[in-house]
Amino acid sequence: MQKALPVIALLAAAQPALAAEVNLYSYRQPELLAPLTEAFTKATGIEVNVAYLSDGMVERLQAEGDRSPADLVFTVDVSRLAAIVHAGVTQPVTSPVLEANVPAQYHAPDGSWWGLTTRARIVYASKDRVDPSEVTSYEDLADPKWRGRLCTRSGTHPYNVALAAAHLYHHDEETTKAWLEGLKANLARKPQGNDRAQVKAIWSGECDIALGNTYYMGQMLSDDEQKEWAEAVNVLFPVFEDGGTHENISGVAMTKSAPNRDNALKMMEFLTSPEAQEIYAHANFEYPVAPGSEADDLVKSWGSYEADPVNLMALADRRADALRLIEEVDYDG
Ligand SMILES: [Fe+2]
Repeated sequence: MQKALPVIALLAAAQPALAAEVNLYSYRQPELLAPLTEAFTKATGIEVNVAYLSDGMVERLQAEGDRSPADLVFTVDVSRLAAIVHAGVTQPVTSPVLEANVPAQYHAPDGSWWGLTTRARIVYASKDRVDPSEVTSYEDLADPKWRGRLCTRSGTHPYNVALAAAHLYHHDEETTKAWLEGLKANLARKPQGNDRAQVKAIWSGECDIALGNTYYMGQMLSDDEQKEWAEAVNVLFPVFEDGGTHENISGVAMTKSAPNRDNALKMMEFLTSPEAQEIYAHANFEYPVAPGSEADDLVKSWGSYEADPVNLMALADRRADALRLIEEVDYDG
């Protein structure tokens, strides 16, 4: 990931003092954001300056206070968005355009963050060793029929914590804990590596099913070495028994200090427009959220799913409890 620009460099990179501009702090990578910022500047004439951060965004915004040059912050994972909001460094914002383009479950009720793209956490299953009909619900992944056949990354990774939080939304603590114990008992090896490493392990025969995010299928298929791994698996969409498929989001929030508030709102509206939504979603094989916008053909080829109908804020609220349960069962141990 690119290193953060110091604030001085960010300001120096800005156009002459009176030029229309908007300043972003982003945890998302340059290759994902650049096509969007270019399209926005082309459409509006507003210059976009981006500081790419790998961590410390909240601390930086708090330290800069009212003098922060940042107008908008970008990140993935609703818990991260919620943490930024809870730190008091953002302001709620809404508009008829935002309301029309972003379904209610993908934004904070008060407008303090807005989802821009979604990704589902799904099951990668061996084409050779798993009949697609065998993968049904998230609950079923704890069934002893999968003993020694499951691979996942660390239980404490935000993607898995969010999934456990979703389980906790649908069940009580005792049930979620038992589910986590069941998943652990089914592991073919200790949790390790990233999502793609689990697909590699299916390809090499170490396990038969794995948890992973949808867009990694697109990333693997675009990579000479990883293509083989991807071709060894099916993308299957489990559901919660009384819900749908677990999603998470990438999103945007406006900073409290936003020196270029009007331009920042224009950018948020642009980002939720179907045109920009498709650019953003295609850049990382994600799903756009705006009605009338479509995912990439490759993404659509994996099949469609019913999203779990839960406001993602309800998952952020359960994050700490989910993490505690993951630690209690010593998932990674
Ligand atoms: Fe990821």
